[in-house]
Order: sequence, then structure tokens, then C-alpha cells
Amino acid sequence: MFNGRVLVITGAGVSAESGIPTFRGKDGYWRNWDPAKLATPTAFQNDPDLVWEWYRERRKQLRAAQPNPAHEAIARLAATAEEFLLVTQNVDDLHARAKWEGTDLLPEKMVQIHGDIFVTRCSGCEFSRRDLREDEKEIPKCPDCGALMRPGVVWFGEQLDSREIERVEGYLHQGPCDAVIVAGTTALFGYIVEWAVRAVGESGRLIEINPEETPLSQFATEQIREPAGVALPGLVTSIVSDSSR
Ligand code: OAD
Repeated sequence: MFNGRVLVITGAGVSAESGIPTFRGKDGYWRNWDPAKLATPTAFQNDPDLVWEWYRERRKQLRAAQPNPAHEAIARLAATAEEFLLVTQNVDDLHARAKWEGTDLLPEKMVQIHGDIFVTRCSGCEFSRRDLREDEKEIPKCPDCGALMRPGVVWFGEQLDSREIERVEGYLHQGPCDAVIVAGTTALFGYIVEWAVRAVGESGRLIEINPEETPLSQFATEQIREPAGVALPGLVTSIVSDSSR
């Protein structure tokens, strides 16, 4: 048991070692594709077929992927720390599927701030469902109102879900963290840097795990320039064993 308070923030780099492309890295989606054509409400209005094709392909890739040692180390920390929250920008389900000694990372310990790729929700009404099975080729229509359904993710130009923001803010208000770990994100969104910096207490650690420097690096008390799957298992072991002395 680690008698401490932990916040972990992750991005696409954490899923990279499971074979999932990042957005801005080498071979990242946004190196080859224009986000305006795939990940905006206007893109969906103009060409829902293209948008769904991309999301169906990503869902398929994720169903075949497995959590890697970075996901497992985070599940271990979640199971071991007295207080824990994971804020992930990842829409995949790899954090949720990672286990530590048979224990899953519980949904109440995780905020998917950019949504969940396996959720299909109506573009017109409140209807939504989770689609884990293989997708149909047609664009799904809402069983309630007949409007086109869309993936349950946050697109460029859209607001974050205020209930999810509340969950993060609620955790930050409960007190400063002993350890804040930010792994595998370019930290380009201001709220990611802000949450990490605000969360860390005066004597707390702010640890960045990323092979490259990011806008967060200047605030980090420790920078680990290694892949998350390499760095996180050892880091978590040291955090957990430090406190049990
Ligand atoms: P990015 O693709 O912007 O950044 C991935 C980061 O992971 C980079 O900083 C890499 O250096 C780092 N990285 C790559 N491999 C790694 C590894 N094995 N271990 C650790 N780090 C590694 O992905 P995000 O920062 O998650 O948003 O992107 C943020 C958001 O931008 C995404 O959630 C998505 C995207 O557009 C929306 O769709 C709203």
C-alpha cells in the first residue's frame, strides 16, 4: 500500500508500445491526415462515411491490441495508492483492460477526458451505447430519433464534457498530490499542463515520462526520457516500495 495521493495523466505515447499510432509522433495520424477532415463536427457533417471509416478502423485495431507494461504499471499504482486518479486523453480501452494481480483499474479511478472510442452516440439526441463488437458497414442511426450516430469522442472545436472536468477538479480540490506522473503526451492542451502543475503539492514530485521534451518539461521535478513501457514499471515499484519502508 502506498499511503499517498497520486494523479496520473496519460496520452497516446502510453499506447504506442501496444502498436497504436500516436497523433503527432513519427507515423502519427496527424502527420498523414488532416484533423479537420476526420475529427471535427464539420468533417462529420460533410463526410460521415469517411469519418466512420477511420473510427471503425481504429476500433478494429484496438480490439486486437493488448495493454502493455505501462498500462499494467498504472493499474498497479491505482490498486496500491491510497488515493488515485488517472486522467487519460486516450479514447482507447487499454487502461481499462490492464490488470494488476487480477484487479482492473476501476472506472471511478479513471477520467477519459477526450471520450471513449467504443461509445456510439446520437448526433441529435441524448441516446448513446457502447459498441464493443465488430461494426456494421453502414453509418449507425439512432433507434430513438433516427439521426446519424457518431463516435463518443471529443472533436476539435468541441467542449470537454463538463461532468468529466468536474471529476478532475473535485480530485484536485481534495488536496495536493505526493506524486503526479505525466506520460506519453505532447501536453499541447493548456488544461493538461494546468492540472498537472496545480495537482502537485509543495514537496510533491512531478514526473514526466516522454522520450521528448514537451511544454510540461519545464515544470517537472523529474524527467524520464524513456518509453513509458520501459520507465513506468520501475518507477511504480520504487514509489510503492519507498512508502512501505
Ligand atoms: P501526441 O501524438 O500528440 O503525442 C504523443 C507523445 O507521446 C509525444 O510527446 C511522444 O514523444 C510521446 N511518446 C511516443 N512514444 C512514446 C512511448 N513509447 N512512451 C512515452 N511517450 C511516448 O498524443 P497526445 O499528447 O495524447 O485529441 O495528443 C493529445 C490529443 O491530441 C489526443 O487526445 C487527440 C489528439 O488530437 C483529440 O482527439 C481531441
